[in-house]
Amino acid sequence: MNNFWSGYIIVLSLANIAAVTGMLMWTRKMDLSDLAEDGTTGHEYDGIKEYNNPLPRWWLICFWGSIVFALGYLALYPGLGKFPGLLGWTSHGELAAAEADYDKQFGPLYKSFAATPIPELAKNERAMKVAGRIFANNCALCHGSDARGAAGFPNLTDDDWLYGGEPEKLVETITYGRHGQMPTWLPTMGEQGVKEVVAYALSLSGRQVDEDLAKAGQARFMTCAGCHGPNGKGNQAIGAPNLTDTTWLHGGTLKKVTETVSYGRKSRMPNFDKTLGPERVHLMAAYVYSLSHK
Ligand code: HEC
Ligand code: HEC
Repeated sequence: MNNFWSGYIIVLSLANIAAVTGMLMWTRKMDLSDLAEDGTTGHEYDGIKEYNNPLPRWWLICFWGSIVFALGYLALYPGLGKFPGLLGWTSHGELAAAEADYDKQFGPLYKSFAATPIPELAKNERAMKVAGRIFANNCALCHGSDARGAAGFPNLTDDDWLYGGEPEKLVETITYGRHGQMPTWLPTMGEQGVKEVVAYALSLSGRQVDEDLAKAGQARFMTCAGCHGPNGKGNQAIGAPNLTDTTWLHGGTLKKVTETVSYGRKSRMPNFDKTLGPERVHLMAAYVYSLSHK
C-alpha cells in the first residue's frame, strides 16, 4: 500500500467515526423548546404525527460502545492504512504461530515416522491414516481419491510402475516429480507408418490385429525400442511404459493408442520437496507403497 492510499484510508475511517460521534452529540443537544403542546413536532402527514422522543437509552449505549470499540480496535490491530497496530498482530504471525504449535504437537510423530523404514511404516495404521489425509489434500486431485488414477494419471494401487515401486524410487518420484515424454511420430512415419507400428504395439499385449500391418510395424518398432525396450517391456529409468501388459496410462483402445503414437504425450508429476518436505514425502512414499502391498 502506498502512502496516498494509506492516508486516504486513515482519513476516511477517522472522519467517519468523528462524523457519527458528532451526530450523536448534536442530537443530545437538540433544542426541544419549540415542540407543540402535545409533544409532537407539528409535522403531520395523512393524519400521522411525528414525535420527537429521545433515542432509547440501550440503543445509545450500544452506539457509544461501538465507537469506543472501533477506536480501541484501530489502535490495537492493523486497520488504519499502514499503521500496524499497537499489538503488532499480523496474519502471517498468526499462521507462523499456528504452524509452530502444530510442529510442536506433531513434530515428534513425523520424526518417528521418518525414522521407520517404508515397508514397515506402510503397515502402521496410525501413520497411514495421517498419510491418507495428506493424500486427499495433495494427490487426489490427479490420482483420484481412491488413488486409482485416470487417463494420463497413473493408478497407484496396482503393482505396475512407470518409474518403479521400490521405496527409494517412490521417494525419488514424490520428491523431485517426473516428466514423461513420448515423442510424436506422425510427421516422420506418416499415417500408414503409424498404423503399422500401432498394430505391432497392440500385438505385444496379445491383441487381435491385422497380421500384415503388425509385421510391417515390427520393423518400425526399432525406433521405439530405444525407450520401450526391444521386447516392449518398458524402461523405468525414463518412465517408458511397458507395452506388453494390459495397463494403459493414456488408454488402450486403437483410437487412443493411435493418438498417443501420432501426436506424442507429455505428463508431469509435480515435485513435492518444497511443499511437503522430506519427512512427509517419506510418509507419502509409505502410503503409496501400502496401496499395492495390501
Ligand atoms: C498435477 C497432478 C498430480 C499431482 C497433484 C500428483 N501427481 Fe503423481 N503423477 C502425476 C502424473 C501425470 C504422473 C505420471 C508421470 C509420467 O507419466 O511421467 C504421476 C506419477 C506418480 C507416481 C509414479 C507412478 C509410477 O507408476 O511410477 C507416483 C508414485 C505418484 N505420482 C505419487 C503421487 C503422490 C504421492 C502425490 C501427492 C503427494 C502425487 N503423485 C500428486 C500427476 C500428479
Ligand atoms: C524417447 C523415448 C520414447 C520413444 C522413442 C518412444 N516412446 Fe512411447 N513413450 C515414451 C514415454 C516416456 C511414454 C510415457 C509418456 C507419459 O508419461 O505420458 C510413452 C508412452 C507410449 C505409449 C502409451 C502407453 C500407455 O500406457 O498409455 C505408447 C502406446 C507408446 N509410447 C508407443 C510407442 C511407439 C509405438 C513408439 C515407436 C514408434 C514409441 N512409443 C517410441 C517414450 C518413448
